Amino acid sequence: MEVIEILREASKKIYENVKELAGTEHAAGNFGIGAGGDISRNIDIVAEKTVLDYLKEINFECIVLGEECGRVELSNNSKGYIIMDAIDGSANAVRGVPFFCSSLAFATGSKLSFITDGVITDLSNGEMYWASKNKGSFFNGGQIKVYDKEPIYKIIGINTSGASSELMKRLSPVYEEHEHTRHFGANALEMALFARGVMDIFIDLRGKIRIQDIAAGYIIIKEAGGFLFDADLNPLDADLSYETRISFIAASNQKILDEIALLIGQQLNNTN
Ligand code: IPD
Ligand code: CA
Repeated sequence: MEVIEILREASKKIYENVKELAGTEHAAGNFGIGAGGDISRNIDIVAEKTVLDYLKEINFECIVLGEECGRVELSNNSKGYIIMDAIDGSANAVRGVPFFCSSLAFATGSKLSFITDGVITDLSNGEMYWASKNKGSFFNGGQIKVYDKEPIYKIIGINTSGASSELMKRLSPVYEEHEHTRHFGANALEMALFARGVMDIFIDLRGKIRIQDIAAGYIIIKEAGGFLFDADLNPLDADLSYETRISFIAASNQKILDEIALLIGQQLNNTN
């Protein structure tokens, strides 16, 4: 079985196991602080267990880096890492806001740039985004590409959850200049929407995002023709470590990157 099929199957199983749970009181059960540093909710635990049980069942030899469960070595002859955010957008999932997803990626080494496969499933409806290195990105049945034409409405995604007042000040010219800014509350699904071409740029400069929130989106965006930069506008890469916290910009083309970089006062490098 190809790695991408394993991730797709695991993701489907998460959807089956959590679709009735989201938005219920039971979803919120507190399991203490997870490896990623946030409270693990019952829905997070149910979703992670689904993936771990499945990987064990098919005997997939890997190391899992889960947001709640931490590093789980399923073999001492590992083929690589499964980077798992079984529920991204947990607050939405617990409250019943229909915008949350699962994010599963596979990497052959311990950096983002070693990611070969990624799957993001919108858990409000089961729709799936996926990509494998050099094979393109897909949404449900069809191939997807970032939107690189001049749009009728420019949609600017910005994650500002818990942003400092300094960052909000730096971002304020973007809000003044652009009427259609968006923030939905599940980073991985926002990256998937960007890859699908419904947003022109997605910005998260808070320095808070973990590798689990970004890993599948990373390959889905790249394979959809998008560009990913770090806070200094260098090509994005990072260690697959629990200490890593990332700022990033996903841009569909150089023009929109230049425009936003100017507004936030960031010096430009070339696209990767
Ligand atoms: C969160 C979401 C959210 C982002 C937070 C993340 P989680 O992931 O991606 O959009 O603003 O920084 O922690 O905790 O729901 O998996
Ligand atoms: Ca999570």
